[in-house]
Amino acid sequence: MSRLWNIAVVGATGAVGAQMIECLEERNFPVGKIKCLASNRSAGEVLEFNGKAVLVEELTHDSFEGMDIALFSAGGERSREFCPSAAKAGVVCIDNSSAWRMDEDVPLVVPEVNPQAIAGYRKKGIIANPNCSTIQMLVALKPLHDFGTIKRIVVSTYQAVSGTGKKALDELRVQAGELLNGRPAKNEVYPHRIAFNCLPQIDAFCDNGYTKEEMKMVNETAKIMGADIRTTATCVRVPVFFGHSESVNVETVKKITVQKARELLSAAPGVELVDNPQENEYPMAIDAAGADLTLVGRIREDESIDNGLNLWIVADNLRKGAATNAVQIAELLIKDYLK
Ligand SMILES: NC(=O)c1ccc[n+]([C@@H]2O[C@H](COP(=O)([O-])OP(=O)(O)OC[C@H]3O[C@@H](n4cnc5c(N)ncnc54)[C@H](OP(=O)(O)O)[C@@H]3O)[C@@H](O)[C@H]2O)c1
Repeated sequence: MSRLWNIAVVGATGAVGAQMIECLEERNFPVGKIKCLASNRSAGEVLEFNGKAVLVEELTHDSFEGMDIALFSAGGERSREFCPSAAKAGVVCIDNSSAWRMDEDVPLVVPEVNPQAIAGYRKKGIIANPNCSTIQMLVALKPLHDFGTIKRIVVSTYQAVSGTGKKALDELRVQAGELLNGRPAKNEVYPHRIAFNCLPQIDAFCDNGYTKEEMKMVNETAKIMGADIRTTATCVRVPVFFGHSESVNVETVKKITVQKARELLSAAPGVELVDNPQENEYPMAIDAAGADLTLVGRIREDESIDNGLNLWIVADNLRKGAATNAVQIAELLIKDYLK
């Protein structure tokens, strides 16, 4: 029988953590022991893995003894504090927060785009999962870049509230209910009402007027693609529960026709082409939710420049944008690196 691996899920009670547990089950990851870690608020709660009850334990520096891989999704502070303890115990950390993404000794990996970067995990024992919006964009753009060399990306996102975690899911649900019943809606998670509204702010503002989320897309794209691609982003939170949508414009060195783009994307790993405008078929958040593929459609030549394309890219932010990407990295780790 092939080897089993002991997995710690840090932030197991959260929106991403729950999906991680589901992904490990669905993909039949060879799990020996599973340890579900969260704050002391949830310690003692019971979760389920492969039909068996698992008690949630409080995350401490001693949580990692005997584990092989830790999947972190408990916020940047916890990742900064606890990934080094896990790594010291010989555990490889795959971190979903932004804490380690731009550290030059930590690889930032999308398996369909730069799987070879995983080898760099040895320096710190940490691999970073990119931002959800960056992951889905690059899964779709990699085959286009390989063919025509992308010079510039202009992206506008339409991001679901699940990207903020479980409290934001409740905020949209409660606000929508209150407003539909003619009552005022309170906001706590977001600075303004999210129900029936769009917020052109995701995360805090930087000195240059962009938000941190926008700068993550710029900086992470450069790190992952390792190419001279200039990116500019506008990130918007929309009242959708699951699935981020993106309007993406790319300028390439070599011309890519719509037909060629469709051909490249049809053959690309992790991509599903949904591009049949005559039948009103295009990617939508409601279709991406619960799936692992990145949906791409509305492919048009940008008629305002010589070599440009417009695309509409949609994926489930909790799955390909977080949990699935992390579990795919773990699969590559045990296949090619860990003994
Ligand atoms: N949501 C997304 O689409 C997405 C995508 C990519 C990356 N991420 C990243 O993943 C992380 C989690 O996001 P989420 O959406 O799952 O958030 P969430 O639903 O709010 O869940 C947060 C998780 O972290 C745990 N936690 C909080 N404080 C803790 C502490 N002091 N010690 C131990 N555990 C603690 C929570 O445990 P309790 O239940 O005990 O509070 C919970 O399990 C964040 O870093 C986020 O940036 C999220």
